[in-house]
Amino acid sequence: MSFTFQDFPAARDDLRADVLAGLAARPKAIPPKYFYDEAGCRLFEAICAQPEYALCRTERTLMATRLPDIAAAVGEVECIVEPGAGDCAKVRQLVDALRPAQLTVIDIAGTPLAAAAQAVSLDYPDLAVCALAMDFLRDLEAAADWLPPGRRLVYYPGSSIGNFPPEAASALLARFRKLAGGDGQLLIGFDLKKDPQRLHAAYNDAAGVTAAFNLNLLSRLNRELGADLDPARFRHYAFYNPLKGRIEMHLVSLVEQDVRVAGERFHFALGETLHTEHSYKFRCDEFVSLAASAGWKLAGEWTHDGFAVQLYA
Ligand SMILES: C[S@@+](CC[C@H](N)C(=O)[O-])C[C@H]1O[C@@H](n2cnc3c(N)ncnc32)[C@H](O)[C@@H]1O
Repeated sequence: MSFTFQDFPAARDDLRADVLAGLAARPKAIPPKYFYDEAGCRLFEAICAQPEYALCRTERTLMATRLPDIAAAVGEVECIVEPGAGDCAKVRQLVDALRPAQLTVIDIAGTPLAAAAQAVSLDYPDLAVCALAMDFLRDLEAAADWLPPGRRLVYYPGSSIGNFPPEAASALLARFRKLAGGDGQLLIGFDLKKDPQRLHAAYNDAAGVTAAFNLNLLSRLNRELGADLDPARFRHYAFYNPLKGRIEMHLVSLVEQDVRVAGERFHFALGETLHTEHSYKFRCDEFVSLAASAGWKLAGEWTHDGFAVQLYA
């Protein structure tokens, strides 16, 4: 059994600067990567269990049922790399099918990642598991030092690519291409465009878990940046914008208010939004064009109930 954990704190310490810049911007916005403190990670797992949020379950069903085809299309790989691995649950299916020598998992939430990766390492004694606690948007290139030579598969499930507007998504896919190397591949899962009512319901679950996930950002800022944001004075507001092909998630101020964050004062007008996340939805052909803009060529495609997994080389 081999388990390595490497922390890249310098690459994650931008919270204060990013939040202050985001609150000074118009419209106010905070990058979604800051959702994931420990409570945020737990809430995300709870979102995946909500009846309205079929995305995770559909992707798992797709992967479970099409795994033999997917594994045959991927072929032999030395290493699987998953940026934003979270609880490392999905990648286990791939490890079972591909039997790589190494698994490298990356996440900005270091403590939950370490626990999840160590659990994988215990369950797969022949697998070398390497967990990198880093912000991959800042420091992805450093991950290359933690990859063995040999064929690599970058795995990016969960429609996480949908959190990036098209230009940023293309830039990230190009960085994945460098990380994968000349003979490397990318296996990516993304949510498809579908009935907007279904999409709307997925981000407005009846139990209010997505709302709690969105509002937890304020609690994080209170705790980590000495802010005085009152979650009761903001409303979770998520809707599908068909013109842009994306879910938009906001925290809308219910009152006119002044708040303090990291020692600075910010004003919210009544109804003003703090934008927290986009979640773009795609058609398969749209995604092929996006990936092509980053130099990837389609090598396989599997779809199930409004979700797609594509393989690129
Ligand atoms: C939506 S969850 C998906 C988890 C898992 N890949 C899945 O599909 O179930 C997104 C994960 O990516 C991580 N993440 C988001 N932005 C990140 C970044 N810039 N650098 C590293 N990890 C990031 C979050 O902490 C979270 O665990």
